[in-house]
Amino acid sequence: MKITCQSPVNIAVIKYWGKENVELNLPTNGSISVTLSMEHIKTITCVESNEQIKQDSLVLNGELVEIPGRMKLVIDKMRNIAIRCGNRQIKYKSESPLESPADPRHFITIKSRNTFPTAAGLASSASGYSCLVYCLSLLYHLDAYLTRTELSEFARLGSGSSCRSLFPGLVEWHLGDSSSTSVADSICDSWEDLDILVCIVKSEKKKVGSTVGMQQTVKSSALFKHRVEGMPAKLETMKRAIIAKDFETFANLTMADSNQFHAVCLDTFPPIIYLNEDSRWFIEFVHEYNRMAGETAVAYTFDAGPNPVLYMRSKYTGDVVRLLKQLVDVTKFKSIRDFNECVTIVN
Ligand code: DP6
Repeated sequence: MKITCQSPVNIAVIKYWGKENVELNLPTNGSISVTLSMEHIKTITCVESNEQIKQDSLVLNGELVEIPGRMKLVIDKMRNIAIRCGNRQIKYKSESPLESPADPRHFITIKSRNTFPTAAGLASSASGYSCLVYCLSLLYHLDAYLTRTELSEFARLGSGSSCRSLFPGLVEWHLGDSSSTSVADSICDSWEDLDILVCIVKSEKKKVGSTVGMQQTVKSSALFKHRVEGMPAKLETMKRAIIAKDFETFANLTMADSNQFHAVCLDTFPPIIYLNEDSRWFIEFVHEYNRMAGETAVAYTFDAGPNPVLYMRSKYTGDVVRLLKQLVDVTKFKSIRDFNECVTIVN
């Protein structure tokens, strides 16, 4: 029995940084992100289960690797739920292409690959874990018992930000006050004239991984405490801007949050520096472009890496891309207008 799915990356506009509970990936603040289209950037995962398979295994980008502890935890949790679901009442129709669920007591083979550089600060763990959880939910027909929001808890256990990739469009990960309430939900499915441009200025491995970086920040940054205090109001304003399709507020808050996040990283001791000279060039470019346009036309955000993601009003996309091509040497993935959610590839 085999399930193949693909899952998108999401890029936060109000960022998750800091854990209240490291083991469960419970965050110190809620966050909001945009799920990207899967045309260029995605994870594709195939999970196979049958009684001939003698142990669980993981092939990541063509290489047989050890299954990380967090992934084992996610797989075990989902298997246990699948075993217990046998006695539960079915609430929904399963979207699984498999007629009957796989036996959760059998071992599985996971083959997963990314169509973009792993660990380049482009949220590969987000598409990776959301894809695995989506595959397993279809393999065991868990989607017949649990909502997408309930399933997002499993993705969060793997990697915090991945719970947001289970939804299309603009998505909120609620802070919650327990494992079952710190989950993701859709704010709105799409934003007609919003374009996204992912620029790759550097594609090497992150210097400081998010998990370690967050722990250092929580321990040492005074600015971080200030950030956390301001979060509930910020999240509320952002949500209202998204619902009203108020690009100006959305864009300014996105840039301010990215700047504050990187300031907090710098305030961490020893400091974490994700931005580089190219990143700073993009920041100045965007502010200068907006000044010339006479309105907020474009916004930038940077995750735990130097690569800028630009959000823009679609009427400016052609001009921005033309200018960037003239001015810098970047590998641009594409302007992305449609937002995707995980899909199953029936094979
Ligand atoms: C800067 O979700 O990768 O991209 O929970 O430790 O796996 P873990 O961290 P991860 O952190 C993402 C951090 C961020 C901001 C965000 O996506 O919200």
